[in-house]
Amino acid sequence: MDVNTALEFAKASFLAETGKSPTDLQIDIFEKALEGKTYEKIAEDCNCADSYVKEVGSDLWRILSSKLGKKVSKKSFRNIFEEYDRSPSSATQQPNNLPEVASSHCRQDWGEAPDVSIFYGRKEELTELKRWIVADKCRLVALLGMGGIGKTSLAVKLGKQIQHDFDRIIWRSLDRSPSLNTFLAEIISLICNESKTNLPTTPSEAISRAIKCLSAQRCLLIIDGIETIMETGKLAGKYRERYQDYGRFFQKVGELNHQSCLVFTSSEKSTEISLLASRIRLVRSHKVGGLTNEAAQQILKDRGLVEEREWHDFIDRYEGNPLALWMISATVVNLFAGKASDFLKTGTVFLGQIEGVLFLMFERLTEPEIKVICQLAAINSPVSFNQLRERISGDISSSVLMNVLESLSWRSLIETEVGQDLFRLQPVIRKYAINRFGQKSS
Ligand SMILES: Nc1ncnc2c1ncn2[C@@H]1O[C@H](COP(=O)(O)OP(=O)(O)OP(=O)(O)O)[C@@H](O)[C@H]1O
Ligand SMILES: [Mg+2]
Repeated sequence: MDVNTALEFAKASFLAETGKSPTDLQIDIFEKALEGKTYEKIAEDCNCADSYVKEVGSDLWRILSSKLGKKVSKKSFRNIFEEYDRSPSSATQQPNNLPEVASSHCRQDWGEAPDVSIFYGRKEELTELKRWIVADKCRLVALLGMGGIGKTSLAVKLGKQIQHDFDRIIWRSLDRSPSLNTFLAEIISLICNESKTNLPTTPSEAISRAIKCLSAQRCLLIIDGIETIMETGKLAGKYRERYQDYGRFFQKVGELNHQSCLVFTSSEKSTEISLLASRIRLVRSHKVGGLTNEAAQQILKDRGLVEEREWHDFIDRYEGNPLALWMISATVVNLFAGKASDFLKTGTVFLGQIEGVLFLMFERLTEPEIKVICQLAAINSPVSFNQLRERISGDISSSVLMNVLESLSWRSLIETEVGQDLFRLQPVIRKYAINRFGQKSS
């Protein structure tokens, strides 16, 4: 049996067992395994993580074993096909007699997703997220983190790496804040090929029809920038008045059975994701943090900074925030001949263009949140709840303070020290708070 015949046989057996054509990655694995390549080499050729290719591979052998009634492995499957091919009982299932394997291209609509050809680090994070979606089959995944930390880029990178696991991928940004009806009408017409005249008229109808579409096909729906539909001037987690249906939609996506996955990014956690993630195993949220030193250094290299020991301190000052590093390192090149050490000697936490991102984040805050941020800025070291409570004047009760701290952490504006109950501000947030509100609480 030559490689092509074996490949057709593998594809047809897969189709017969699952009712679905194998994805491009699965076909690649069949093909390259037939050529005798290792998983590591296959992963390299397909631009995927080794562990992911192994996972998809072992799934394939399991499916073929079940179809052929024999244990099939990466090493043995060509021989087993040959044996099976020669066996008279398999005559009706010879490759040539099997139905033609349909083209398995995943249909993709990336909308206005940004280009992520320059993307450093986050390897472990990507592996973990892929495991959640591909192996665990999570239905709802939230990527949360402060402005500029890399949520959108991570979502694109993740979607590109798991595309082979889906029949369809749709990327949409909420920057124009469409109503849920308008938003879902487009999704329904894309997934289920509904005509424009037969689209839902109420949010409840839109939600139930969207769930049907997500059940009919395995779709990856990525929604970028949920914070645009979230309320400002109230504690974090609530939707703006005309957008509460989105919360209901996310809740149904998380609670109901279907075969798709919705990934969304947001700088603010919403109440329902917090509740759902605590009680439903297939709903998860991931806090996107700064880049590791190693990954962040790549940005400084690309920007043309002079290599120095001080890079470490420079990256720490901006806590690995890629947007800040791209922007501030341009200033270091322009004003300090690329020397981070000279920039650091100024002793200032320069905000430059990241001020715009922080402005938008601070615009969402309530008065008590501003008060607490100012107090944390004045203390300038990690503090416990009780220390903070003592420092804050009497008009904030303990329960209000708890709500406020929770809200600030949902907005990624305060950090909690790992394994401790201490709260602190990132240097850029402290600097911005002082610039904007002065040292009024110190
Ligand atoms: N891993 C990375 N490696 C290199 N650059 C990155 C990485 N992640 C993000 N960036 C760059 O940092 C900038 C901010 O990234 P991104 O837009 O993904 O952040 P965000 O968290 O979605 O921000 P916002 O909250 O404003 O939507 C972009 O210019 C992006 O190209
Ligand atoms: Mg974004």
